[in-house]
Amino acid sequence: MHLRPPLNWINDPNGLVFHDGNYHVFFQYNPYGPRHSNVHWGHYRSPDLINWEPLPVALAPTPGGYDADGCFSGNAVSDDGRMVAFYSAHRTDRWWQPVTTAESYDGGITWAKRPELLIPEPPADTTMYRDPYVWQQDGRWRMLVGSALADNRAAAQLYESDDLEHWEYRGPFHVSDAAADSGPVGWECPQYAPLGDSGVLIISDWTPQGGPSHTTVHTGREQDGRFTATAAPVPLDHGPDFYAPALLKAPGEDRWLLWGWAWEARDDAWAHEAGWAGTLTLPREVTLAADGTVVQRPARELLALRGERVLHRTGHVTQSGAAELGQVSRTFDLTAVLTPDTTGTSGLRLVTAADDAEHLDISLDPTTGRLTVDRSHASLDARARGGSYAVPCPAATTGTPVELRVIVDRSIAEVYLGDGRVLTLRFYPLAEGPWRLQARTTGTGRSDFTVEAWDLTPGGIRQ
Ligand code: FRU
Repeated sequence: MHLRPPLNWINDPNGLVFHDGNYHVFFQYNPYGPRHSNVHWGHYRSPDLINWEPLPVALAPTPGGYDADGCFSGNAVSDDGRMVAFYSAHRTDRWWQPVTTAESYDGGITWAKRPELLIPEPPADTTMYRDPYVWQQDGRWRMLVGSALADNRAAAQLYESDDLEHWEYRGPFHVSDAAADSGPVGWECPQYAPLGDSGVLIISDWTPQGGPSHTTVHTGREQDGRFTATAAPVPLDHGPDFYAPALLKAPGEDRWLLWGWAWEARDDAWAHEAGWAGTLTLPREVTLAADGTVVQRPARELLALRGERVLHRTGHVTQSGAAELGQVSRTFDLTAVLTPDTTGTSGLRLVTAADDAEHLDISLDPTTGRLTVDRSHASLDARARGGSYAVPCPAATTGTPVELRVIVDRSIAEVYLGDGRVLTLRFYPLAEGPWRLQARTTGTGRSDFTVEAWDLTPGGIRQ
């Protein structure tokens, strides 16, 4: 259900494009092992976002070539019967990853790389440079490239073209507000979606000390190649394991889909034993609400993955109580309406061990006005990262009903609030199960719930 090859390493989604009746998802992929090295572009294709077909590796580093050490991230466009991929050519003997292209006339099975780099050098005063993103707007092609500037600010650099071949540098599209105290911060994988009169700029923040860290979404307006934010940037996803999201414009409609990379929250040794590391998230729809906030929801197509409805319960819990709701499989889709108990935390617990020793808690906290996902006890194996993560949820304080949608697929949980906020995290249950759900409260008041859950058909991916 989540896109990932059965083995080896993956990171960013790349080259998301609808071409010839199919959605194409490429991704950073090391075919030789579960660690970040020797990066290729893997490839899946689907006519409907449900049934996915793995295709041969699309791009591989060329020994001795300009991308000898990796075909790093980028995107792809469909143009006049061909697919054109824009990507970052990695070599360890230079610090920037220049932009190059490859084109395919057979739907992404075989590719011809451009003999020379497309944009061989970054603009002056740049200290990091990679990850082209190309889209069409007002009859012209535009490209953003992620970068860091010599004054320690981060920028998305803008280029324009009429033919995808000749690119004019237009200067920074958007620059971070201030130089980071902690040293240079770079913007990776910039993504842009024009939405109505506004635009949404999605950035993955990278720090040399900490590596990739988090993603932010900037809403604003674009005029003459400059983006002006109209609101403070906010996290795109409030979870700890989500990075490098990429956008795809749905064909024939004003709908943008987004996939992210959900990295591992278990240590390298364990990932090595397992033989794989990283998965893509499920596709999400990104829209703007009337008040300008960004709304994310699971792509509507995913409803077709729902199989048997395994539980449907309405009730309430009181006085630090718990109610058993029933069993779920390891891959399920759940909707809930919770009316929080304002005298304590209340919510749902996914119990994965017969004796309750392993559990993931999703709860509403009236004192902070947040929804918390706590994985401190979600794995019996100490090599899994713990911690508790939160997303703002003002209704937790007022006691008004909160809508939730939670999709769990073995080691990943994507938790959506009804207002379009989302939190993604990984967790690694070890116990035999069976998995079951509880409603719980720690308060002295009352918490009402309605919960429905469906088994998800595991497949969709032809391996
Ligand atoms: C983001 C990133 C990109 C880069 C790619 C390399 O996770 O660091 O900036 O192109 O991964 O795999």
